Amino acid sequence: MKLFAGSSNQPLAEKIAQELKTPLANSETVHFADGEVRVRLIDNVKDEICAVVQSTSIPGDANLMELYQFGDLLKQGRAKKIIAVVPYLAYARQDKEHREGEAVSVRLVAKFMESSGYTDAVFLDLHSENAVNFFKIPVLSLDASQTFSCYLDQKRDDFGGGDLVIVAPDAGRKQEVEQLAGALEVDYAVVKKERNLDKTDEINREERLIFGGVAQKEAIIFDDMISTGSTAVSAAYLALKKGAFHVFLCATHAVLSRGDPFYWQNSPFEKIIVSDSIYVPKPKQFEKLEIVSVAPLIAKSLKNLL
Ligand code: R5P
Repeated sequence: MKLFAGSSNQPLAEKIAQELKTPLANSETVHFADGEVRVRLIDNVKDEICAVVQSTSIPGDANLMELYQFGDLLKQGRAKKIIAVVPYLAYARQDKEHREGEAVSVRLVAKFMESSGYTDAVFLDLHSENAVNFFKIPVLSLDASQTFSCYLDQKRDDFGGGDLVIVAPDAGRKQEVEQLAGALEVDYAVVKKERNLDKTDEINREERLIFGGVAQKEAIIFDDMISTGSTAVSAAYLALKKGAFHVFLCATHAVLSRGDPFYWQNSPFEKIIVSDSIYVPKPKQFEKLEIVSVAPLIAKSLKNLL
């Protein structure tokens, strides 16, 4: 297999390459002053199985364009199979018409990926599995729960010392939270969140616990992503109000669109545990941040696709 690294998450691509015991293939991505991007393939890919690791995190549109260029170049180079490995898929939250007349943007992403040449796609913790329905190519939708479950299990003693409770910050996460709690043999709780659909990132501050309790427990909020942090921070204050000893946050994708490390360091969480699906550069890191690698999970899935 020839494994190419897009520019959005080279450290993850390198770790996946190490897991697969293969060197990264040679390519070059240039970012121009106006924000445009241009990929150049250096290796010959004829009749090869190729995979491109590219998380479409901020700047999502440029990272998507780079992904499409890789697909197109690999198709031109007559690769045998072209696998898009997109640990974080931009626009996955726009998977339905929440209000009449809205764009279902992930459908467009699917069309562009397919027409640019990809024959297979690997995603991780999609916001909703509904996004998969827009793809005609085979999609492998990975779940990072086991990675987090192993991590939390090994580090149980680092979570305040009380009984753990896994908290879903909205009803949409109930199933994942129930599974994680089951694997760790602890309780779970569910918060009800109302999103204000007129304002993109705002939520109504009317959260309430609709299942389970957190009093006198160590609450671990478990979500697919942290973007502005509104969802997790609101759930954290609710948990503290309801008597949790401490609150921790565990989320697959560190979108961190608020961007300011001081904001996250001063948030109500004791620790913020994320995966390396999105690269968090040093200046954006903060003391409370812990990063768990999903490279072994992705490498294993790629081996199965060969
Ligand atoms: C939404 O339903 C997702 O599962 C996340 O809870 C949400 O997208 C996180 O976004 P933010 O950090 O901006 O609240």
